[in-house]
Amino acid sequence: MNVLILTASFRTKGNTSRILDRLTDRLTGLCAQQGMDIHIQQINLADINLTYCHGCRVCFDRGETHCPFWNEIGPVKTALQAADVWIFSSPVYVDDVSGIMKSFLDRMAHVNHRPEFAGKYAFLLTTSGAGSSGHAARTLANTLRTWGVYIIGQKDFIAGALSTPDELNKRFNKNIDRIAAKIVESFRNEKALTPSIVSMIFFKVQQALWQRNKEDSIDYHYWESKGWLKPGVTWYIPHKANPLTVLLGRLTGSVIARFFE
Ligand SMILES: Cc1cc2nc3c(=O)[nH]c(=O)nc-3n(C[C@H](O)[C@H](O)[C@H](O)COP(=O)(O)O)c2cc1C
Repeated sequence: MNVLILTASFRTKGNTSRILDRLTDRLTGLCAQQGMDIHIQQINLADINLTYCHGCRVCFDRGETHCPFWNEIGPVKTALQAADVWIFSSPVYVDDVSGIMKSFLDRMAHVNHRPEFAGKYAFLLTTSGAGSSGHAARTLANTLRTWGVYIIGQKDFIAGALSTPDELNKRFNKNIDRIAAKIVESFRNEKALTPSIVSMIFFKVQQALWQRNKEDSIDYHYWESKGWLKPGVTWYIPHKANPLTVLLGRLTGSVIARFFE
């Protein structure tokens, strides 16, 4: 199992980083117990100095590698492609993910138009001072679902700014251990091939819009070239979702798509 931990805090000994250290240890230990190979890479987006998205739309209109700042984001995208499981983590800043994480998501917006990550797994981890993490979790979950990613779960760790490692251990080790177990179990049981109804809806809405708006854009040609515009195609890749989930997801998606121009 190849795991990529993506984090977004300048505090290299902060709450998020310490919780991720424990999660890394636990994942490594669990996989060793189960005779499973594991490789974990960690990228802190704070080390990259990402330029803000300039909104030029060149990634949408000509392709992401034409982005004038592609050298910053290209290696991160390659790491995402190489990993099976992602752990996206961020401190909560003013009710959302940190600016670093948000900037990263903006820079990856071409994937919202041209999803390419169905079959990947993600766990969403936030830390906050007071627990106001709902918006941050939604920012991450909605983005990754649009990319086709299976969301294993989400957890906010409420920790004051000055939590010591001992305090964090005492309060959170059990939670962290449970998260590690859930990640390994989801991967072992190929849960990414059983998309949720929400993920089905996300696919259906985009599919319906592209079926309606045939245009000479690379986004449209991408959807067409993947075969996703054929009426019988229900998700990005062959899947094992329950037929009722598929039916309800598609019906709901069709209704939602009608509200878009
Ligand atoms: C600029 C800033 C904004 C913050 N905004 C919130 C907030 O809106 N809600 C909250 O619960 N905590 C907030 N916090 C607290 C952090 O989320 C919390 O301390 C977090 O664990 C810090 O993670 P780190 O140590 O990995 O950087 C904020 C902290 C900072 C520095």
